[in-house]
Amino acid sequence: MRTFKWRSLAAAACALATAAATVLVATPASASAALRVHAQARGKFIGTALATSPLANETAYRNIAGSEFNQITAENAMKWSDTEPNDNQYTFSGADQIVNFATANNQQVHGHTLVWHQQTPGWVQGLSATNMRNAMNDHIATVVGRYANNPTVVSWDVVNEVFEENGSFRSSFWYNTLGSGFIADAFRAARAADPDARLCINDYNVEGINAKSTAMYNLVSQLRSQGVPVDCVGFQSHLSTQYGFPNDLQQNLQRFANLGVQVRITELDVRIQGSRTSAKDTQQATYYSNVVNACLAVTACAGVTIWGFTDKYSWVPDTFPGEGFALIYDNNYSQKPAYTAVHNALDNGSTTDTTPPSTPGAPTASGVTSSGATLSWTASTDSGGSGLAGYNVYNSSGTQIATSTTNSVTLTGLSANTAYTVYVRARDGAGNLSSNSTSTTFTTTGGTSDTTAPTTPGTPTASNITSSGATLSWTASTDSGGSGLAGYNVYNSGGTQIATSTTNSVALTGLSASTDYTVYVRARDGAGNLSSNSPSVTFTTTGGTSGGCSATGTVQTQWGGGYVVQPVTVTNGSSARTSWTVTFTLPSGHTIVGSWNATLTVSGNTVTARNAAYNGNLGSGASTTFGFQVARPNSDTSTASGYTCA
Ligand code: XIL
Repeated sequence: MRTFKWRSLAAAACALATAAATVLVATPASASAALRVHAQARGKFIGTALATSPLANETAYRNIAGSEFNQITAENAMKWSDTEPNDNQYTFSGADQIVNFATANNQQVHGHTLVWHQQTPGWVQGLSATNMRNAMNDHIATVVGRYANNPTVVSWDVVNEVFEENGSFRSSFWYNTLGSGFIADAFRAARAADPDARLCINDYNVEGINAKSTAMYNLVSQLRSQGVPVDCVGFQSHLSTQYGFPNDLQQNLQRFANLGVQVRITELDVRIQGSRTSAKDTQQATYYSNVVNACLAVTACAGVTIWGFTDKYSWVPDTFPGEGFALIYDNNYSQKPAYTAVHNALDNGSTTDTTPPSTPGAPTASGVTSSGATLSWTASTDSGGSGLAGYNVYNSSGTQIATSTTNSVTLTGLSANTAYTVYVRARDGAGNLSSNSTSTTFTTTGGTSDTTAPTTPGTPTASNITSSGATLSWTASTDSGGSGLAGYNVYNSGGTQIATSTTNSVALTGLSASTDYTVYVRARDGAGNLSSNSPSVTFTTTGGTSGGCSATGTVQTQWGGGYVVQPVTVTNGSSARTSWTVTFTLPSGHTIVGSWNATLTVSGNTVTARNAAYNGNLGSGASTTFGFQVARPNSDTSTASGYTCA
């Protein structure tokens, strides 16, 4: 079994995802995914013939060619008259242009065509038999050899149109000079030049079962039995609505497939007579879906190549007077019903894909200007069947700001001197979205650069103080430098940043119990300027179970000159204990005037309460209480605080 250099469709999908090529082609949902995404999901290619001039000159032409198709055939650029116009003078500029475009867009190229009776220079046609055979072998060796190690070029039309309509060999200069043996010779020369390329015989009016297609069938069968390397049969499929659809197309493809060859639709177009009407568009669309469906139904059918894609560039009006409009986009690159027909035929019947793509890598920003930036990220893969369709790009508030069919996108219209935080999600053909990538923040340059710091925030106040946390709030800052207020940093007394916030409040967590914290805040703007330090505030976390127990005091009643704290609840930790000590702080001028269920001693402002003889034993998690009464100056309203237990 021969291994063709045909890239696997999975590899092609992966390559599609890693290309950093044309961007910002939106494919918002599965239904509107590009043709190649749906074809890929069905294991087929969808291709187009390309002409070199619009490819060089028209962005719209390039964008559709690159995004909708995963297979390319040169409409003319690889023909003999283009590649070897004079004996042994080869020119590959057009051929290379096509191949390079395909490589850049992760498309496979079908080489068309090596030996044909048309578009072959006069110098070939007048040669003697020996010289003609040599010229043919040399041409095949040189043209095929040029791309033999290029993975983009995977197959060749070795001979083209060798039959008459009645099934006899065409009386071309090839046949008339060399006899039918030139066909086998050509295939052998191509195999020698590239052992890995898939080698095809191609013709028109062979779509249905008829004298011509049967002659082709017999030739292919005979050549293969003789060991001639014919790998594939191409059915051009230049159809016209006036001649009816070849309803036995699928049956015909299948009989060739049963010979062991690959089959493919190579030059599909469906011309109509006169001008377009919606009825003719509909009939044309039906022909297109019939062809795609026939290929889908035959396992050995590799795919469908359309002979161009826009009516703006089609060989039909020049070749068939009175006929035209044969392709799937109109003259203005708008999709016709034929496009929808191809799309839906490729899309319908795919198995339901509910598996999201893998998570893309964190985007990296490059080419950052005052109004734009290019983001690139490691591509995702999709295993659910519908294939990777592209990526959505979001800002930090979750708003979608761009889409891309590749793992790169150029953002435009950004504000100068502004920090942007962005992340991406991959999207497959069924519309499944991956998880969010890691975010990246970049700051646009230019504009009026902001060097003005925000105003100084107000003194923080602490509330909701617990043994492990507290809420800080402060009067907000303003920013006048242009980049706008971005948020605040919170620092401890050592100057270490311990929290950030986008609002003028933050909840600190993970603090230690019964500990003094001195903190201040600084405001931050979009350009990274920091304000002066706010004044500091000091707060003390409440007693935790760090001593293996905790204590909280509740003021039961108070009056001008005093108050009663009852109960002070002492709660044990997990280890049983036989004694406990609670300390708390009395405001200045306060004196203990009585206590119960504990023994109190006072030192300065610190009161130490020790268990009584009868309530020192506390099991795991058990609690007990004590109480005390305090006298204070008449004008004072403060009470004892800072209960800790050990
Ligand atoms: C056609 C091209 O589309 C034209 O631009 C050119 O002038 C003539 O050839 N069968 C083939 C193709 O194998 O190479 C032909 O292409 C169409 C018929």
